[in-house]
Amino acid sequence: MRLMNKVAIVTGASSGMGAATANLFAAEGAKVVLTDILEAEGTALAVEIGENAHFQRLDVTSEEDWETLVAETLSAFGRIDVLINNAGVSGSHPDVLNTDTWDEQMNVNARGVFLGMRAVIPKMKEAGSGSIVNISSISGLTGQKFVHMGYNAAKGAVRLATKAASVQFARDNIRVNSVHPGLMPAMRTSMMSADPEVRRKMINAVPMGREGRVEEVAHANLFLASDDASYITGIEVPVDGGFVAQ
Ligand SMILES: NC(=O)c1ccc[n+]([C@@H]2O[C@H](COP(=O)([O-])OP(=O)(O)OC[C@H]3O[C@@H](n4cnc5c(N)ncnc54)[C@H](O)[C@@H]3O)[C@@H](O)[C@H]2O)c1
Repeated sequence: MRLMNKVAIVTGASSGMGAATANLFAAEGAKVVLTDILEAEGTALAVEIGENAHFQRLDVTSEEDWETLVAETLSAFGRIDVLINNAGVSGSHPDVLNTDTWDEQMNVNARGVFLGMRAVIPKMKEAGSGSIVNISSISGLTGQKFVHMGYNAAKGAVRLATKAASVQFARDNIRVNSVHPGLMPAMRTSMMSADPEVRRKMINAVPMGREGRVEEVAHANLFLASDDASYITGIEVPVDGGFVAQ
């Protein structure tokens, strides 16, 4: 059990990679606080996972929600060892020059990740340790034809904010790393990348020739969250079937 006695918060845990991560973390012995704006799905998933899982509603863009989440997690479990900043909205918008999409991307995918770090780092400092995994994307490393540039910019911001936090809090024994999934099952908010023809072209561009499985990202999150990665901070881990190696 690689997360025995650890307390982990996962954002965007009602779906996709967040759900897979919450599942795996609970199986590895962690107490997991699943958070999302989708309450019914998150609550049902927490019940399915069992006694190590609890759901709490959190909109990652709300500072007030973050304050409440941190206070309630501390009161229930006494500490926060791990934060997986995973919640996000897709950038595969057909209008790549849409301004509202830029604003939404910055608000949820970039600011939401900052607010999460801002909320937990003081508590991790007090406790003397912590591990944060920020979910970026291959879009945080390179541009793509079917993706709004706001998504690339927000995921690029996550990549570099991760490195900044890693150097700023290394002496506090807080590790901060980013994970960069490649072509995964479409997000709930995907438009272009949910189109079968677009997906076929995208899969062709993946050296391994297939999309990733949500569990493959969950396992990268597990490694970075756990003490197995105790000397690893500030790195970016693509989980992308070789996409960014090209
Ligand atoms: N699916 C992909 O191809 C892919 C590729 C690279 C990176 N990612 C990133 O991985 C992460 C997870 O994506 P996924 O594929 O599991 O998508 P998903 O749509 O299945 O899950 C995202 C979850 O985030 C939640 N969410 C959205 N806005 C929120 C908010 N304001 N507050 C709280 N929760 C919110 C959603 O309700 C949803 O449950 C995202 O950050 C995404 O950008 C996805």
